[in-house]
Amino acid sequence: MHTATVIHGYKNGRKFGFPTANLRLDEEVQIAKGVYAVWVEVEDNTYKGMLYVGTRPTLSLSELTYEVHILDFQGSLYGKRLSFTIVQQIREEKSFPSVDELVAQLSRDREMVREVLK
Ligand SMILES: Cc1cc2nc3c(=O)[nH]c(=O)nc-3n(C[C@H](O)[C@H](O)[C@H](O)COP(=O)(O)O)c2cc1C
Repeated sequence: MHTATVIHGYKNGRKFGFPTANLRLDEEVQIAKGVYAVWVEVEDNTYKGMLYVGTRPTLSLSELTYEVHILDFQGSLYGKRLSFTIVQQIREEKSFPSVDELVAQLSRDREMVREVLK
């Protein structure tokens, strides 16, 4: 289980239909780059989530970021505390030829997460 503070609101990626909470982890842990099915706990509720650890190469960015998209969640998480538990890696990080292809992959990731966490 990892604990974190949400450092950007639940807004990044909203334009793609996949808003994410950008996380600052409490502890300096090494999580290998990739996409993971996670259980997310926030404000006494538990949600299915997909955690992304990577540098967002599709957007030509290079800073290592931790982002989580929480399934079936709406609202603002900015500044809030949450914890997550990694259940399974879904795939590796990838540089997609276009944002559309990244978004298509995110839809498949979400299906996989629902399958893994059902
Ligand atoms: C579950 C998940 C998987 C992701 N996988 C990748 C990936 O493989 N490659 C990549 O470049 N970005 C990936 N991203 C990061 C997206 O590029 C980023 O969330 C999106 O572009 C929104 O960024 P922005 O609103 O900060 O611009 C992933 C994000 C999530 C939530």
